[in-house]
Amino acid sequence: MWLRPRGLLLLLLLAGQVALGARRGRWRRELAPGLHLRGIRDAGGSYCQKQDLCCRGRADDCALPYLGATCYCDLFCNRTVSDCCPDFWDFCLGVPPPFPPIQGCMHGGRVYPVLGTYWDNCNRCTCQEKGRWECDQEPCLVDPDMINAINQGNYGWQAGNHSAFWGMTLEEGIRYRLGTNRPPSSVMNMNEIYTGLGSGEVLPTAFEASEKWPNLIHEPLDQGNCAGSWAFSTAAVASDRVSIHSLGHMTPVLSPQNLLSCDTHHQQGCRGGRLDGAWWFLRRRGVVSDHCYPFSGHEQDEAGPAPPCMMHSRAMGRGKRQATARCPNSHVHANDIYQVTPAYRLGSNEKEIMKELLENGPVQALMEVHEDFFLYQGGIYSHTPVSLERPERYRRHGTHSVKITGWGEETLPDGRTLKYWTHNASRKSR
Ligand SMILES: *[C@@H]1O[C@H](CO)[C@@H](O)[C@H](O)[C@H]1NC(C)=O
Ligand SMILES: *[C@@H]1O[C@H](CO)[C@@H](O)[C@H](O)[C@H]1NC(C)=O
Ligand SMILES: *[C@@H]1O[C@H](CO)[C@@H](O)[C@H](O)[C@H]1NC(C)=O
Repeated sequence: MWLRPRGLLLLLLLAGQVALGARRGRWRRELAPGLHLRGIRDAGGSYCQKQDLCCRGRADDCALPYLGATCYCDLFCNRTVSDCCPDFWDFCLGVPPPFPPIQGCMHGGRVYPVLGTYWDNCNRCTCQEKGRWECDQEPCLVDPDMINAINQGNYGWQAGNHSAFWGMTLEEGIRYRLGTNRPPSSVMNMNEIYTGLGSGEVLPTAFEASEKWPNLIHEPLDQGNCAGSWAFSTAAVASDRVSIHSLGHMTPVLSPQNLLSCDTHHQQGCRGGRLDGAWWFLRRRGVVSDHCYPFSGHEQDEAGPAPPCMMHSRAMGRGKRQATARCPNSHVHANDIYQVTPAYRLGSNEKEIMKELLENGPVQALMEVHEDFFLYQGGIYSHTPVSLERPERYRRHGTHSVKITGWGEETLPDGRTLKYWTHNASRKSR
């Protein structure tokens, strides 16, 4: 274990590299308190051993970087106040260290005390005895293994890391990022409307609402960690339709918050809600613009009370309604109430949906969202089997609702045609 002649050459080379630092170190070495008495000792660390370094007497070059300082593998370090590398006694002397290692763990060049923690994506790691980290084992919403599997699997879409999702568990993603309750059978059994599609009628192979109705199709709002897609998607479709049907005289972005806070009958705000209830509210009560009644926040404290309703409307004759309060927002005064005509259900025939979109504007769709959807970055999304081999807790899904703004098709290398819907011009799914 002591330096062999061959090792000496290596050591000299090493020493050449750290010459400057070592000279400064010599001065500091004599004055600095011992590394270990300061409470830092990397219990499991391999230093002298890793470099096969042990020196007799005093050898200031017989040193290694240690947690932003320097530790030594020479006999001189074995003083009352010691700056030996943690494994000096074990490795160079073959004896147990003169003082017990202070318990702690290393991570990223830092020492953490016992019970110290850090976050590894969505999992908390806690320092245990003997320098051992113990990390939670929750499936994370952004899973680098899943991203790689999707990108290598040629599924027709690209996966990536959405920084807003980093650090969340899959469970939290399903709980906070979706938020549409499955409609009861009374809604699913509603009569379907037929658009009167002629049997020989040919629809374009691609369509985008924002091209037919420039400036009348609104960008999606960000629901953040509010499981209120029921309110966001309904307000989004209604905003576009109000704009289209008024021929651009009104182009409000309708307020999801007005729905979240005020449409409370059988609805749970940022904990989910139903589309039929949202449409009923928009027709009978109406909502103000998002400008007037802005979204109050992305983080919803589940335990805390939901924000109270800050806007009501009352009838003013001829089916019209007016707001009973000012905008909950001091710099906007326009508190017009917007109402919509009754919602109707389309069948699942794609041609019917296309014709409706083409003639009347964006439509709302329910969508079952699976774990891989949170990684979508581009291409034509379809649910992939990449999580099939993993334990069940990696395969989760929840119901979501979205605004569909168009459609298109793409010819694959093998000649097949893939049709897709667009959620706005850039997001596609089969
Ligand atoms: C190292 O230091 C301890 C405590 O001062 C002493 O008992 C021991 O003999 C020293 N070991 C060597 C090899 O010098
Ligand atoms: C994902 O994004 C977050 C936030 O930007 C970043 O901290 C993290 O390192 C990224 N993870 C991967 C695997 O790229
Ligand atoms: C679609 O959405 C993305 C992201 O929100 C946005 O950057 C893009 O401009 C949108 N495109 C259209 C045409 O709405």
